[in-house]
Amino acid sequence: MKQEWWKDAVVYQIYPRSFQDSNGDGIGDINGIRMHLDYLKNLGVDVIWLCPVYKSPNADNGYDISDYQDIHPDFGTMEDFDRLLQEVHEHGMKLIMDLVVNHTSDEHPWFRKSSSAEETSYDDYYIWKDRPNNWKSRFQGSAWTYDEKRGQYYLHIYTVKQPDLNWENEAVRRDVYKMMNWWGKKGIDGFRMDVISMISKDQSYADGPVGEHEQFGDGSSMYINGPRVHEFLQEMNREVIQNFDWMTVGEGVGVDTREACLYAGFDRKELNMMFQFEHVEQAKGPLGKWTDQKPDFLRVKEILDRWQTDLEGKAWNSLFVENHDYARSVSTFADDREEYRELSAKMLAIALYMMKGTPYIYQGQELGMTNYHASSIDELQDVESKNAYQFYVNAGEVSPEEMLKYVNCAGRDNSRTPMQWDTEENAGFTHGTPWLPVNTNYTYLNAEEQTGRTDSVFTFYQQLLAFRKSAPAVLRGSYRMIGKEHKQLLAYFRTMGEETYLILCNFSEKEQSTNTLKLRQQTEAQGKANWRQVLGNYPSGHSVDMLRPYEGVIWKMEKES
Ligand code: GLC
Ligand code: CA
Repeated sequence: MKQEWWKDAVVYQIYPRSFQDSNGDGIGDINGIRMHLDYLKNLGVDVIWLCPVYKSPNADNGYDISDYQDIHPDFGTMEDFDRLLQEVHEHGMKLIMDLVVNHTSDEHPWFRKSSSAEETSYDDYYIWKDRPNNWKSRFQGSAWTYDEKRGQYYLHIYTVKQPDLNWENEAVRRDVYKMMNWWGKKGIDGFRMDVISMISKDQSYADGPVGEHEQFGDGSSMYINGPRVHEFLQEMNREVIQNFDWMTVGEGVGVDTREACLYAGFDRKELNMMFQFEHVEQAKGPLGKWTDQKPDFLRVKEILDRWQTDLEGKAWNSLFVENHDYARSVSTFADDREEYRELSAKMLAIALYMMKGTPYIYQGQELGMTNYHASSIDELQDVESKNAYQFYVNAGEVSPEEMLKYVNCAGRDNSRTPMQWDTEENAGFTHGTPWLPVNTNYTYLNAEEQTGRTDSVFTFYQQLLAFRKSAPAVLRGSYRMIGKEHKQLLAYFRTMGEETYLILCNFSEKEQSTNTLKLRQQTEAQGKANWRQVLGNYPSGHSVDMLRPYEGVIWKMEKES
């Protein structure tokens, strides 16, 4: 049997446009990534997930691919990529790529051929209809656009420039598998699969319900977890995945724990794990994700607990709170005010990464990078934020000021501002003009400052990840939450055989007593009376009875000697 190396691995997500520019054009690139492999190794990273670097007109920053087997010149060349892959392997790390096959770019040759009447073999590569249904695009407006050449409408769940592939067509699937095998033979170590839960559509194409503030209908129940999605993934597994010693993770938009056990079930021969989004999409206002509301802590706790519990023994979890599609986690889930930023960023890391599953770290999260405060929507680039801003402001649903506030809280560019390396101009990201503004806090918040400091967020991540790897109970042990109703504290046990850890985190800026958690009783029940603090985010230890503001602690429980 293949080693399940991906269960113990730590994954680091690179958004290449914003990581490091090597040639002064203001855009991060592959050679820029090569400059920082020691940094990643030093942090404790095992696997790099590289967001799309393929050829693309960049309607959605590379998630609109026009050639799956070529590199976008902004990012470099295929030779640069081959060198990167080799160097990642020389560093003892692995590299997984982004697989974006729910849709292509409208500039992909398949779409060109499908839209022109000339080459009939590509007729059914996309989803064409004489009349559109009422589905809304996830990036505003109708999900259907009329194509003059072909004289029909095509479906695009995302932007107009991202037509959905027709997975019902066997030729499409064969082409996708061929491409994946090609990358596999190149030696990559797996794929992160973009909106993979959407590849199978309910063939009725019935209208969806129209929400109160909406013009179009929500078709998601017909295109998420569609009727043939598991069949397709099992086929993909047979045709591609099983040929390699890979790690696979699916983007599980709209996937609940029951579905996750199908996508990533140990006996299902589909994927290794899924990303779930319930916890990062929990805060919702009248305009959906566009709100400045903080997530409800009890709800977040309940969600994380449910995922840990429901997947136990059946499927594997991925542990993430931050990526290129969400705001910075310290700003959303913790406290980015300077007096608490480092403390609460560390606490959040304990809370999440001591759970069971594979940890994912998004670039800059290991420094506690924060949201970006744009003073005008024109500073931003993200197509989702810009479309939503225009739509809701024009429709009179919200004032421009209010909408900008929402975008500054929930917009995707919060996590896409350039990586903060040092105190040089543009945070050392580029010698040119950065494609997206650098957060002004780089003067004190940067990698150079943190790698040299023993109490930095970076150093804490290093220690936490190293501890994780040394503790079988954390990697593979059982999980049990206590104090589920507690409004400020998150507490859970991780246990394997004689090894037991208690994880305690205070999500508030006030001291919290642990009285109601009845820790003494828990301890006695396990016959363990000694407590030893193995790691915490305060410089010195404390008693188990009380947690200081944003304190996070890992306690080891031992038998009295
Ligand atoms: C995924 C990507 C996101 C992209 C979308 C469409 O959600 O993470 O960045 O916009 O898919 O490809
Ligand atoms: Ca560049």
